[in-house]
Amino acid sequence: MSEIHKRLQQKLAERAAQGNLRTLKTTSGLIDFCSNDYLGLARSEKLRALIHKEEDKYKLLPLGATGSRLLSGNHLLFEELESIIADYHKGESALLFNSGYMANVGLLSALPQRGDTVFYDEASHASMKDGLRLSFAKTYPFRHNSVEDLRQKLKHATGQVYVVVESVYSMDGDKAPLQELAQLCTEYSIALIVDEAHAVGLYGEKGEGMTVALGLQDQVFAQVITYGKAMGNHGAAVVGPKVLRDFLINYSRAFIYTTGLPTHALVALKCAYTLLPQLSSEREKVKELAHQLYQKLNKLSSIRCTPENSVILSVFLQQPRHLKELAAALQTDGYDVRPVMAPTVPEGTERLRVIVHAFNTEEEIEGLAQAIAKGT
Ligand SMILES: Cc1ncc(COP(=O)(O)O)c(C=O)c1O
Repeated sequence: MSEIHKRLQQKLAERAAQGNLRTLKTTSGLIDFCSNDYLGLARSEKLRALIHKEEDKYKLLPLGATGSRLLSGNHLLFEELESIIADYHKGESALLFNSGYMANVGLLSALPQRGDTVFYDEASHASMKDGLRLSFAKTYPFRHNSVEDLRQKLKHATGQVYVVVESVYSMDGDKAPLQELAQLCTEYSIALIVDEAHAVGLYGEKGEGMTVALGLQDQVFAQVITYGKAMGNHGAAVVGPKVLRDFLINYSRAFIYTTGLPTHALVALKCAYTLLPQLSSEREKVKELAHQLYQKLNKLSSIRCTPENSVILSVFLQQPRHLKELAAALQTDGYDVRPVMAPTVPEGTERLRVIVHAFNTEEEIEGLAQAIAKGT
């Protein structure tokens, strides 16, 4: 075996010894308590039919973008969609990226400059941390959701200051104290950046996200909107002032040095935005079901379940090493629930991540709660 093979196998063996080796599995046909398809748009026949119908209108466009949007890859559907997105999320402009990961890396690596300072919530998504690692600015984590800790850390600030948070945290499912953060940022002329990945579709009258739901659009400098979750699609957009869009077109390497999204992805997104305002009953249903599950799980003394008002629930066991066995038992009972292990979450906070959807039923909620009670 060559040296490089040995090195890689050793790294994998280390993971396996810790019980954290990641492997790919295909989806199972089990009852979905795992995907980010909160509203069921990824499986919506209505959306599928709408996309087929709409695609006909764009027959003259190439299938693929054929290049970076700065070269051959731009066309009117990009601009039309970006204007729909900007209006929907009450921003001045929007710029599409090929995924949420790329939007965060593209935004956070380019925007804060040398001499600037970024404070980010310690629970921020890996894509935000990766973007900041590529930035020349000074970066400081602050304690999860602690405005107090952030306030203390402001003494390190130089240059333009940024605060970076998620509106709903992807792993913990809890919400950022956005109003307090917005107030602080306004007070100190700090640019607040909010990743709305897990809020879009669910919060706001039309599912605009938490920034718009709370009326904070004028105090938030940039919103990152992603399309792989409640929107049932793929891709992402940065919504903010026009000068930010122009800046990113000039300086964001994750925007510049990649082929634009294919036409079918743009059509699908346009159609998802057409349906999104009509999904109020789905928005209510998913929250109601999640609350039912929370209440059932909260009665069990064998586990701890958090947070109360979220469609993303974490189930903690007294012995985290039993998580994988529990997940396997739930899967045998027909429920697709996955354990989330370190290093995806900090060591000691391994949990089952349970995601509730508008298409889940009360019987499924009851069944899952009983299966968790049986397995713990
Ligand atoms: C908070 C947050 N931001 C960004 C992303 C990345 O989005 P995408 O899956 O579109 O790359 C995710 C996905 O897991 C996320 O949870």
